[in-house]
Amino acid sequence: MEELKGLILSGGKGTRLQPITFTSAKQLVPVANRPVLFYGIEAMVAAGITEIGIIIAPQTGAEIREVVGDGSQFGAQVTFIEQDEPAGLAHAVLTAEPFLGDNPFVMYLGDNLLQGGINDLVEAFRTGNPDALILLTQVADPENYGVAELDGERVVSLQEKPPEPKTDLALVGVYMFTAAIHEAARAIEPSARGELEITDAIQFLVDQNHRVEPHIVKGWWKDTGRLEDMLEANRLVLDTAERRIDGEVIDSTCEGRVVIESGAVVERSTVRGPAVIGAGARVIDAHVGPYSAIGDRCVVERAEVENSILLEGSSLTDLRVRVEASLLGRNAKISRSEGQPSAYRFLVGDESDIGVI
Ligand code: DAU
Repeated sequence: MEELKGLILSGGKGTRLQPITFTSAKQLVPVANRPVLFYGIEAMVAAGITEIGIIIAPQTGAEIREVVGDGSQFGAQVTFIEQDEPAGLAHAVLTAEPFLGDNPFVMYLGDNLLQGGINDLVEAFRTGNPDALILLTQVADPENYGVAELDGERVVSLQEKPPEPKTDLALVGVYMFTAAIHEAARAIEPSARGELEITDAIQFLVDQNHRVEPHIVKGWWKDTGRLEDMLEANRLVLDTAERRIDGEVIDSTCEGRVVIESGAVVERSTVRGPAVIGAGARVIDAHVGPYSAIGDRCVVERAEVENSILLEGSSLTDLRVRVEASLLGRNAKISRSEGQPSAYRFLVGDESDIGVI
């Protein structure tokens, strides 16, 4: 088999994570303080795939280029491929055709997280030589995903977000393809949502009697498109964290799997793991509870936070009630204001979602 290339999809709109995604790519939202996208790149490199193309959108591409660089930080060579509009996953494949050539490739959706990496799958693809290999997993809400119908080991049909799914087997956002997918992507028509669906392209391969091999995912898998999923992905990854304290801890208690990056200060506080506190962050007279990812240069002062993600530079100060299940964008500030009248004061962006008590 020719050299496997990698294709990571980091374009798209990210509407479900607004307002965070008004200013930033959803694939850069951090899970355990690292952009979601990094986990996909690392999974590829671990499987021996180092020539990686990354699809970017015109609006958010510059930021992704800057954070990923040339790929050398991962031991990869990265080529950025701009897709002028989010016209679907199969459209992204066609956009990447000059980069992919005739090589087989692994396609990884940049907002997906797959436990245990992709080594076994790449191995199965290399030895079994199918035309495509798809990953499936049982979900409670198949209507939100591509859904597969199997007959034993054979894929019978695939449908994108069917209102009445025939099974609960969802397509996971990691696929392996031979060059046959290009012809399939050219053959299909846009779906009802106006996108060239990879699901339809794979159905085309099935219809043309190409060999499409299904694999059921054993570990956990997360599509981080929505806030709840993002928080869950954060919990799952933090659960694998190992205790490491490089920052300064003064008169404080750090229990369990706690990571405190260098330059962070924790003073007169409690940090209960699993949790991570980013470089240069300040946790003062505060409580950081399990499953919190506090980004670089954040401030948590006289406040309590748990099961939340704070993006870099954001802050929580002087709060009387614990903050839970929250996502704070970069440099967002929540604090108590003592002035009169006694009232809530907000500067809130479009699509924000705030719950007060
Ligand atoms: O997460 C798994 C699901 O991903 C599958 O079950 C579905 O069959 C598949 O269609 C896809 O569904 P989504 O609706 O969740 O895809 P989304 O629009 O979120 O895009 C997935 C990733 O691809 C995301 O990182 C953005 C990127 N993307 C998306 C489009 C539409 C692009 O790079 N270009 C695009 O044109």
